[in-house]
Amino acid sequence: MSLATPAAVLPAAENDRTLRDFALAQGPLAERAAAFSEYVRTGREEGLVLYEREILSAAGPRVLVRDAASGLPHEMVMFGSNNYLGLADEPAVHARTFELCRRYGTGLGGPPLLNGTTELHRELERRLAAWKGTEDCVLFPSGYQANLGWIVALARPGDIVLYDEHSHASFFDGLALVKGVRARPFPHGDTAALERLLTRERRGAAVGASIFVCAEGVYSMDGDTAPLDRIVPLAERAGALTVLDDAHGLGVLGARGAGTVEHFGLDGRVDVQIGTFSKALAVTGGFIACRRDLADYIRYFARSRVFSAALPPVVVAAALAGLEAIEREPARVERLRRNVERVVAGLRDLGLPVASRSAIIAVGVPAEVALRPLAREVHARGVFVNAVEYPAVPLDRQRFRVSVMSEHSESDIARLLEVFGDVVAPAVLAAC
Ligand SMILES: Cc1ncc(COP(=O)(O)O)c(C=O)c1O
Repeated sequence: MSLATPAAVLPAAENDRTLRDFALAQGPLAERAAAFSEYVRTGREEGLVLYEREILSAAGPRVLVRDAASGLPHEMVMFGSNNYLGLADEPAVHARTFELCRRYGTGLGGPPLLNGTTELHRELERRLAAWKGTEDCVLFPSGYQANLGWIVALARPGDIVLYDEHSHASFFDGLALVKGVRARPFPHGDTAALERLLTRERRGAAVGASIFVCAEGVYSMDGDTAPLDRIVPLAERAGALTVLDDAHGLGVLGARGAGTVEHFGLDGRVDVQIGTFSKALAVTGGFIACRRDLADYIRYFARSRVFSAALPPVVVAAALAGLEAIEREPARVERLRRNVERVVAGLRDLGLPVASRSAIIAVGVPAEVALRPLAREVHARGVFVNAVEYPAVPLDRQRFRVSVMSEHSESDIARLLEVFGDVVAPAVLAAC
């Protein structure tokens, strides 16, 4: 693998306008919108804005992407999709989805409580509850809405919500919807800090107040796993409920791919498990797996479910078909693990300090390296990865986020490593 000169190390000032500048901009809307529109248009033309790339094929290990300048299809290896198990592109899943879609139709025309539940929805809820080892499960239109839903349904004024500071945006949006709860973050993954917080908050809690301890199975930007084996006993000792967003653990961790709870052998000990179909199941939609009494509460009082149309049967069918494919072929989960090991080992051989047990591998890029020109070069060399930049993460935590699939071949991985060896490693190592 050749190590090229670090051409993409540019002074940050040349490239320093970020989405945050526009998000926080003041002034008349027409001016703000026009300036932003111009920024996105020129950024796309220059290859520096790589958001919303137009994909012309299924989001499998190789994709056709429309080149923003020429308009022509461009074949790329896909290391930027959460389709971790390759199910988006799986003929058996397509066939089963079409079969079920013919029976149940495309949509229901209403929210679940009124007219939006079919036997197919119930079947998926039952299968998910069994997979997750819980009594019940409630479907949501998206994982985002599931994160808005549980807290609105379950939390009341005076309740205490303790959460990992790296929680997903949807958690924070849910938190913003509830009034009168006492919300306190703990430093990322720091269970000693969580223990101190639990002791303090429990002392000050009103009689009857619930305490929720919230974490993610796999953190979406870093790919690291929550220390659930330490969090759950702490929560149990404090009489708190554990809430786990396992969006990126499902299909990835645990012997059956059931997620982070299975990985740690904590079945039956996590009170609320949030999941999504938009990652390993490669569709869209979300769910909450939990005890029956909590599930009923959530069904009737989660406003993001009650006041939104039910998941269309075609989506439920695809999620169910994906679940069946994982049950039928558990080797997919194993293949994913092997590929993650290969990519991690390959990136380390390039000198990049990475580690991951999940399908997300974060390749940190020092703050003094301009990320966008690097991303443009990686894209031009046919590798689709996501560059995560400020303000999505602090400047000193900007990175490439490499997402691995079970269906990546050795040559797909070799391509990724070749391009990272030529483009990313030299720039990163030169700045270290
Ligand atoms: C940790 C986490 N929770 C929730 C979500 C939202 O899931 P969905 O795409 O189903 O809305 C995401 C997706 O980005 C996520 O990464």
